[in-house]
Amino acid sequence: MLGSAVGVSPGGDESVQEAIEVRSLSKSFGSVVAVNQLSFQVRAGEIFGFLGPNGAGKTTTVRMLTGVIPMDEGSATILGHDIRTEPVLAKQRIGVVPETSNAYTDLTAWQNLMLMGELYGLDYTRAAERSRTLLEILGLLEKKNQKVQAFSKGMKQRLLLAMALLHEPELLFLDEPTGGLDVQSTQMILGMLRDLNAGGTTIFLTTHNMEEANRLCHRVGIIRSGRMVAIDAPEKLKTAIDRVHLIEVSFDREVPGDALSGRDGILGVARSGDKWRITAGHQDTAIRSLVAASRERGAAIVTLNTLAPSLDEAFLRLTQGKEP
Ligand SMILES: Nc1ncnc2c1ncn2[C@@H]1O[C@H](COP(=O)(O)OP(=O)(O)OP(=O)(O)O)[C@@H](O)[C@H]1O
Ligand SMILES: [Mg+2]
Repeated sequence: MLGSAVGVSPGGDESVQEAIEVRSLSKSFGSVVAVNQLSFQVRAGEIFGFLGPNGAGKTTTVRMLTGVIPMDEGSATILGHDIRTEPVLAKQRIGVVPETSNAYTDLTAWQNLMLMGELYGLDYTRAAERSRTLLEILGLLEKKNQKVQAFSKGMKQRLLLAMALLHEPELLFLDEPTGGLDVQSTQMILGMLRDLNAGGTTIFLTTHNMEEANRLCHRVGIIRSGRMVAIDAPEKLKTAIDRVHLIEVSFDREVPGDALSGRDGILGVARSGDKWRITAGHQDTAIRSLVAASRERGAAIVTLNTLAPSLDEAFLRLTQGKEP
């Protein structure tokens, strides 16, 4: 019913297996290198999660791949079309939910959709039919004649998704589609993405929510400082994450961080109030190292707690590029 297009339209290369192929893509803004020699592939039919902390270069990558800004260096093909030599062919077959809204706030939801239909050359009947279906699925049909300026964030985001899907794209880019949304809107959007994917649509999803990527994506790429630092199935990344342990320790007298860091099993040392927060690879080895360090300093351990790292902490750990 969502009408996801499967297969390759005329003019495309039937042998293409990769929906997105990126090679050594780079982009700088003045002295800021936003994207640095980035290479990766997204397979046709998969949900690919593109994860990274704020400022990692996610949006810049999406903007280059969707033809909003030019790349400095490298190459990229979208559904077999080189985005520099065949940008229009590539754009016709993709849908984009950008980071910042591209809806006109002084127009109604319906008017925005009709405008999008014109942009993609859909005839009115088809555009109206698609719009009605999409608004219904996304719970917005009753709001269709309301101006977008009166929309809540969740409603606006659902409208953006409808606008991106109007022309039945084979590949959908979404830049943080659920950021700041409540559970209901989030679930509605994620459910729709799942359905679309089941119908054959390839999805490129930018997020900094590891949990969301874990639940939804077939593969996840983690970007930091413009570079891909890990790319794998989420379960595999999860296993890497599970190998990271956190220990909080305090001593009865001052033990400097230098006395703790670099010892067996200890990956990182950070101050947390009157305690030290230790990132550990092997927990048992790290605890032994802490005991040894305190003895050497003539100190006694007052408290020692082992903690499960939050996904965020583990994610930061992964993106620091060090193997736990
Ligand atoms: N138009 C621009 N002009 C100058 N610098 C920019 C511009 N766009 C992005 N940058 C810089 O490029 C880097 C990457 O930004 P980008 O928006 O791609 O990050 P992001 O991963 O999408 O972050 P977020 O999670 O906050 O959305 C940042 O240092 C940012 O300040
Ligand atoms: Mg961004």
